[in-house]
Amino acid sequence: MRTFMICKNVHRSEIPDRFKEYDNRSYDEEVEIFIKEYTKPGDTVLDMFAGLGTTLIIAEMLGRVPYGVEFLEDKYNYVISKIKNKENMIHGDARKLIEYEFPPIDLVYTSPIFMNKNETRDPLNGYKTEGNYAKYLKDIKKIFTDLKKFLKPKSHIIVGVKNLKTSNGITTLAWDMGNVLSDVLFFEGEVIIGYEGPRDRESFGYDHYYCLVFSNR
Ligand SMILES: C[S@@+](CC[C@H](N)C(=O)[O-])C[C@H]1O[C@@H](n2cnc3c(N)ncnc32)[C@H](O)[C@@H]1O
Repeated sequence: MRTFMICKNVHRSEIPDRFKEYDNRSYDEEVEIFIKEYTKPGDTVLDMFAGLGTTLIIAEMLGRVPYGVEFLEDKYNYVISKIKNKENMIHGDARKLIEYEFPPIDLVYTSPIFMNKNETRDPLNGYKTEGNYAKYLKDIKKIFTDLKKFLKPKSHIIVGVKNLKTSNGITTLAWDMGNVLSDVLFFEGEVIIGYEGPRDRESFGYDHYYCLVFSNR
């Protein structure tokens, strides 16, 4: 697999207007490339930060069996309106992954909600409580530790993440996440995704991001 790819900044599904202002979906092309690379038809694909369901929608389109978790009810409802395997989608919390039931999983393709090092609200709790970057990274590590309960041996885990460049400086989120997750999963390396088209609001100052590739060895 190439370690640098240019993907089209496009999505097949049209989303309702209310989601357009904070559209942080993964690009269809990139998700499709990873699902084809690491799974075959009939395999299970999980995204525990499902968002608007790109992983689940593309997995199902490719004949894989999708599973997902999404914190926000509105997004959860949107995802179940788009997939056939509705019962495989949980309106829940990735931090409670261990409490849910999933079959053995062949591939995880996910992009956790991001956090800037200066933020003081907890993105993993819908910004409802106070938080900080160290706690966020600790929670992320715990989620991926718990995830191992469901992973098939030698399965792959792909994490889409960016470094964040804002007026307050740079948060090396991709590298920090890579570091903490390398403690619990085997880090196989990164694929850098560049994208065509204009830089949007969710680009955080960069024209590329990382797909960190881990395996369950
Ligand atoms: C970067 S978005 C994922 C976008 C997704 N890849 C897509 O293409 O639509 C991260 C998602 O994680 C959700 N989220 C945040 N905290 C969560 C939690 N504790 N458990 C599950 N989902 C959570 C957010 O609501 C958001 O939809």
